[in-house]
Amino acid sequence: MILLTGAAGFIGFHTAQALLARGEQVIGVDNINDYYDPVLKHGRLKQLDGRNGFTFYKADIADEKAMNDIMERHGDIDLVIHLAAQAGVRYSIENPQAYTCSNLDGQMVMLEIARKLQEAGKLKHFVYASSSSVYGANTKLPFSTEDPVEQPVSLYAATKRAGELLTQSYAHLYGIPATGLRFFTVYGPWGRPDMAYFSFTRNILEGTPIRIFNQGDMRRDFTWIDDIVAGILAVMNAVPQEGDAYTIGGAPHRLFNLGNNRSEKLLDFIDVIEQSVGKKAVRELCEMAQGDVKETYADIDPAREVLGYDPKTPISEGIPKFVEWYQDWKR
Ligand SMILES: NC(=O)c1ccc[n+]([C@@H]2O[C@H](COP(=O)([O-])OP(=O)(O)OC[C@H]3O[C@@H](n4cnc5c(N)ncnc54)[C@H](O)[C@@H]3O)[C@@H](O)[C@H]2O)c1
Repeated sequence: MILLTGAAGFIGFHTAQALLARGEQVIGVDNINDYYDPVLKHGRLKQLDGRNGFTFYKADIADEKAMNDIMERHGDIDLVIHLAAQAGVRYSIENPQAYTCSNLDGQMVMLEIARKLQEAGKLKHFVYASSSSVYGANTKLPFSTEDPVEQPVSLYAATKRAGELLTQSYAHLYGIPATGLRFFTVYGPWGRPDMAYFSFTRNILEGTPIRIFNQGDMRRDFTWIDDIVAGILAVMNAVPQEGDAYTIGGAPHRLFNLGNNRSEKLLDFIDVIEQSVGKKAVRELCEMAQGDVKETYADIDPAREVLGYDPKTPISEGIPKFVEWYQDWKR
């Protein structure tokens, strides 16, 4: 039985769908906060409601008692997929406490859940979401999990890196088998309205300007949601043992980049959205946003080697599918 946090979120929802399709039992948790329109979160949950094997709890992962109650009610949990977090780089300037609460306190509560499951002899694997943003001001490309990550340029990145370090200490102290996944700009249907591909599509359709940061001089490794979910499913059974390849400091803890291994120019990405929408954008060129990074590009060789991770979807295929979903959803 799988405890899945962030089940009403973009990646959590797609992960839940894939797990249920495989016949897994999924205990979904989400606090359905209003960082972006909760209508979208309820819409995702509506797709999951009533499906065989799915149970949902509206709860905050930083609420230790609520999370312990859920764990005790479901004695068969053996796998944790922890995706709930306060995401977004720019919002971390506006509301820093949201990040410390969900990404630090929440990560700690989830690690304590993992420790209790481990002590009860139940836990197989603790899988959790990290982010490409941990690479911060790194300039060496592509980004490798071997690279130093001491230069976060946003509080979001700092809390995600801290989550990795907290997990490393639990893997070392208690032998908790753990894998952190550094996702690279994930996009797709039921996506996040705070992300550029979503707001660009909306604004182009509505005829309102799109804001292009750093005058468009940016690159992103855009990763299609189904490729990410395939990576999450592959990692579930790739349980690290002490001393395995890519484990950190001998503890049973690994980190993988899940990206697309293609760094696209932001302006090319906008061209693809315009073609899919069938309309030109009103472009407003802006300065670099605080906390943002100029470029992301994932080295995915270790994920290919260990997980058989093999992202296949170029933006020319993914973006039209997103735009089609968006237009349906609006209707
Ligand atoms: N989407 C991306 O491009 C991307 C890139 C890098 C990393 N990530 C990471 O992947 C994970 C999933 O991201 P997503 O894109 O699905 O974001 P999302 O915001 O759509 O999903 C996160 C979900 O977690 C829930 N949540 C937040 N704080 C919570 C709390 N304290 N208690 C319970 N639920 C809480 C939210 O309500 C939301 O539904 C996050 O950890 C995020 O940091 C995402």
